[in-house]
Amino acid sequence: NIPLLFLLCQSNFIHNLLLQCTISNSLNEKNNVCPTFEDYYTIKNNSNCWYDLGADYVAPEIIHHLGYPVQTYRVVTKDGYILTLFHMPNDGSRNPHAKKHPVYLQHGLVATCNNFLALQKDSLAFVLWDAGYDVWLGNYRGTYPSEEHVNLTTRDEKFWETSMDDVPLIDLPAIFHTILAHSKPDSKIIYIGHSLGTTFALMYASEFPNEAKSIIKMFVLLCPAYTLKNMISPYEVFAPFGNWVVTDNPEALPNVFKTPRKQQTL
Ligand SMILES: *[C@@H]1O[C@H](CO)[C@@H](O)[C@H](O)[C@H]1NC(C)=O
Ligand SMILES: *[C@@H]1O[C@H](CO)[C@@H](O)[C@H](O)[C@H]1NC(C)=O
Repeated sequence: NIPLLFLLCQSNFIHNLLLQCTISNSLNEKNNVCPTFEDYYTIKNNSNCWYDLGADYVAPEIIHHLGYPVQTYRVVTKDGYILTLFHMPNDGSRNPHAKKHPVYLQHGLVATCNNFLALQKDSLAFVLWDAGYDVWLGNYRGTYPSEEHVNLTTRDEKFWETSMDDVPLIDLPAIFHTILAHSKPDSKIIYIGHSLGTTFALMYASEFPNEAKSIIKMFVLLCPAYTLKNMISPYEVFAPFGNWVVTDNPEALPNVFKTPRKQQTL
């Protein structure tokens, strides 16, 4: 069976056919997304809800399905984590006036790069690509696209002996190196982060200010998460207990806060 499987994987035509079948079937699947919390109570037969590819499929399937190019890179960090980085290469032919710098999108806490793909063609990744940018989508260590390691599996406790410091200090430099190695000479990276992705940008830039100046064109911080001072949301009440929940009692987190597992389809 292995040679046949290999052949199937190698054949773009068959691969695309399989992908189209899988996705067309899934379009008849039950709703999985609603606009408000209340709508989820009646998700099964609520006409406000719909079936969203972004909730069930990995990034390359979504990108490919919407007709955009995608390449997958495996970035090995110096401490052995294997990060999955997606690239939507742009030769600029759609928009010759577009700026040539690659754009890197960094998702936030308990999320993946699907956050930038979930609104179909209105998603940030596609809007940027349509505007002529070369788009890169990262997934930091421990998210489901990036849960491999050269020596460990996610069942090894040692795999999880890592902290948020390791993302900006180890993962980001490795990712940036990969992006620059596949970009035009003298390219600088435009970094767009969301939430925790903005915290990582600030941590990276304060740890490596000279490197940041030389390889980053700009940081765009969406919902910047830097300090909880002056917070006006009711979460302010829980903020002082954040460390207790996250580091001492992770099991206290409701499931909704944990990264959902991707259903493997292909
Ligand atoms: C939706 O489903 C619920 C429970 O399955 C049922 O009670 C309700 O009548 C249904 N509503 C409609 C509009 O079909
Ligand atoms: C992986 O295991 C090999 C063999 O034990 C070791 O030499 C190497 O340093 C390990 N790599 C990492 C990143 O832990």
